[in-house]
Amino acid sequence: MRRIAILNQKGGVGKTTTAVNLSAALAATGQRVQLIDLDPQAHATLHLGIEPMPDDLSLYDVLTASASLAEVRRPAEANLWVVPSHINLAAAEMELAGVVGRELILSDKLSADQETFDYTFVDCPPSLGVLTLNALATVDEVFIPLQPHFLALHGLGKLLDTIHLVARRLNPRLRLSGVVLCMYEAGTRLAVEVTNDVLAFLAQAREGRTPWAGAQAFQTRIRRNIRLAEAPSFGQSILRYAPESHGAEDYRALAGEVRAQSSQPAIARAS
Ligand SMILES: Nc1ncnc2c1ncn2[C@@H]1O[C@H](COP(=O)(O)OP(=O)(O)O)[C@@H](O)[C@H]1O
Ligand SMILES: [Mg+2]
Repeated sequence: MRRIAILNQKGGVGKTTTAVNLSAALAATGQRVQLIDLDPQAHATLHLGIEPMPDDLSLYDVLTASASLAEVRRPAEANLWVVPSHINLAAAEMELAGVVGRELILSDKLSADQETFDYTFVDCPPSLGVLTLNALATVDEVFIPLQPHFLALHGLGKLLDTIHLVARRLNPRLRLSGVVLCMYEAGTRLAVEVTNDVLAFLAQAREGRTPWAGAQAFQTRIRRNIRLAEAPSFGQSILRYAPESHGAEDYRALAGEVRAQSSQPAIARAS
């Protein structure tokens, strides 16, 4: 099983859109996929049409109480399951403050889970707090979605520092394995410049021994597509909501690249 966190401490860069639609696109190829919604805003949960009711158990109960992942996991689309979030997850950050080993709760719960999946994705909140640390302690790989605008690389340093720190202290398997360019405006100079900066950075990183030495920028660029912005309000992935759209086409192509990655040596090391 590959375990992948979708991470960027900036909001609005395409994390949730990528977590949901990449999961759905992999599920559509017959892979068994679980998506863990670690953001208290519950956008991934809602995007897949799951409306948390007040009495429903959620990831909050998994992280702060004795609930198992199996107890809260819900089917969303064929081959796709969601571990739903809830707004009260925002309080978990504080509630866990005094708990020893609080960064390892999700990892322990996933180890205890009997169900098997080909992919587990974690949609991270836009911060580097204890929730995100739980994600990074659990996964083997990180995908970073980037929106090519002029501050895209700003903040990347801090993100990579965090990955480095977690790799050293909590999870030696952790690797950045992919960068996804989202909301891509083909033909604009800015998109080309930012893309070249990202490629140059990753090429240079290959020399080093950092957790991002094996990272690739996916060839697939996720184009700006209004259908992708509409799909969440219909509670459906883009593959269901608008299967013929550019958005669906791009996430299917990305899923193909992600599956091909599994057989490459640099990535095999990470899993
Ligand atoms: N490729 C895209 N084209 C058009 N709108 C997009 C695209 N990707 C994301 N969006 C929209 O941009 C907003 C932010 O995306 P989201 O995935 O929620 O970011 P994050 O999870 O990083 O905060 C959402 O309203 C989403 O629907
Ligand atoms: Mg989000």
